[in-house]
Amino acid sequence: MPKNFDVIAIGAGPGGYIAAIRAAQLGLKVACIDEWKNGMGGPAPGGTCTNVGCIPSKALLQSSEHYEHAAHSFAEHGIVLKDLGIDVKKMQARKDTVVRQNNEGILYLFKKNKVTFFHGRGSFVKALDGHYEIAVGEEVLSARQVIVATGSSARALPGVPFDEEQVLSNDGALRIAAVPRTLGLIGSGVIGLEMGSVWRRLGSQVTVLEALPVFLGVVDEQIAKEAHKAFIKQGLKIELGVKVGEVTTGQGGVTVAYEDAQGQAQTLGVDKLIVSIGRVPNTLGLNAEGVGLQLDERGAIVVDAECRTNLPGVWAVGDVVRGPMLAHKAEEEGVAVAERIAGQHGHVDFNTIPWVIYTSPEIAWVGQTEQQLKASGRDYKAGVFPFMANGRARALGDTTGMVKILADAATDEILGVHMVGPLASELIAEAVVAMAFRASSEDIARICHAHPSLSEATKEAALAVDKRSLNF
Ligand code: FAD
Ligand code: NAI
Repeated sequence: MPKNFDVIAIGAGPGGYIAAIRAAQLGLKVACIDEWKNGMGGPAPGGTCTNVGCIPSKALLQSSEHYEHAAHSFAEHGIVLKDLGIDVKKMQARKDTVVRQNNEGILYLFKKNKVTFFHGRGSFVKALDGHYEIAVGEEVLSARQVIVATGSSARALPGVPFDEEQVLSNDGALRIAAVPRTLGLIGSGVIGLEMGSVWRRLGSQVTVLEALPVFLGVVDEQIAKEAHKAFIKQGLKIELGVKVGEVTTGQGGVTVAYEDAQGQAQTLGVDKLIVSIGRVPNTLGLNAEGVGLQLDERGAIVVDAECRTNLPGVWAVGDVVRGPMLAHKAEEEGVAVAERIAGQHGHVDFNTIPWVIYTSPEIAWVGQTEQQLKASGRDYKAGVFPFMANGRARALGDTTGMVKILADAATDEILGVHMVGPLASELIAEAVVAMAFRASSEDIARICHAHPSLSEATKEAALAVDKRSLNF
């Protein structure tokens, strides 16, 4: 006999585990299935985000940033260090501990919220009288409502599989055991820049090969230009407009043949190569075809604006569906779906989903870029304030970058906020709140911000929209 639940979530990444907890909070009987294994073969809920994504990458970014500060910034503070070194094994062990704490935290939350967790691969068996049967190992579960949150995996270059020794996905990139002398990255997207930063700070010579002729094309152009300048200054080598050809591996490392932006044949020889050219939805093993679950040409599950699939009672959220591949987007969709299942009106505002790239300087934005506003013909005003003129940034010793606010020319409603600079990842929250409440730039300009704080740069950028910055 199948074990019956009201809701089964397949996948315990940010989409699935949050959906499961929210559904349980709403009084539903919930199961969550996840197949991720830790080093000992035990469960490791949290998905890509916890195991090989957001959390471990931020742990390594933090460690490498400490190292860089110790190597390059401490001296100007009068702090004298001798014999600075890096123990990569210890750095990786710390990262593994952070990951494990998060895995354990999720198992604790499942217990606290009475979500039944099953470790293994979940796969549709059949649809029967409005129920779906899902197999996990030897067990069969059944529920009227199923939330598919199976996430995504790294996309490989055609004909170049990941061996995770020399050709690395995000998984191998987060497990490198010694600082490579030379490191290549294919793709200057979010993973490329974050991982490239980690290993450059620790001493690798990093070269990034990007197919597009522009750097960070989705980012506001002014912000992307400022970030590009900062990365080049730090020593990251970024080649735009390249065509990657044959990739060969051998004892001596990895060789990448490519055509540069001028059409010249080039080769890049590196110790290790990280391929970060986007991700593909995970639907293999779900038996989607067995129950007629519709997928698109990329293999993503087709959903409507409310995450309903073509099958009644089957929903899908997170990286396995359309939209940005971000943990907080997956969580928002998971909460909204759980609430819809419980008869409430779940809602996700796709216009106010923030983006953060955790490089140094950090890049963060919400809403529309200047190039998008121009293309749509909308009249707008822009206000920019550089961190160079911010007292807290000077005290921190980190004055790169700026805050930029774009507001409607007639109504002054904020349409986009873009930042590059220190702690942009935290500063962006104010902009998200403002946009969620449909604030005007004048609203931010009139709010008292603590002094000295980086957030004053946001207030000053809002004042600059009206051409009345006080400190610049
Ligand atoms: P996932 O987190 O991928 O979880 C899916 C889970 O389902 C996995 O545990 C998988 O094993 C399991 N699963 C799949 N199929 C089955 C099955 N049939 N049965 C049982 N279990 C199954 N996003 C941010 O917002 N901020 C960041 O800083 C950030 N950093 C990142 C850094 C890196 C290196 C990478 C790779 C990604 C990063 N992301 C970041 C993106 C983020 O990790 C994803 O958007 C997020 O994890 C998506 O959540 P999800 O629940 O949809 O899927
Ligand atoms: P990405 O989509 O951010 O960037 C991929 C880059 O590779 C693009 O610039 C693309 O033009 C380039 N590219 C594609 N094919 C290429 C080729 N053959 N040769 C050279 N360049 C090529 O994808 P990435 O970096 O793999 O990350 C995947 C996703 O993971 C991100 O889009 C993001 O959603 C998520 N993520 C989020 C993070 C965050 O929020 N801080 C951190 C890391 C990942």
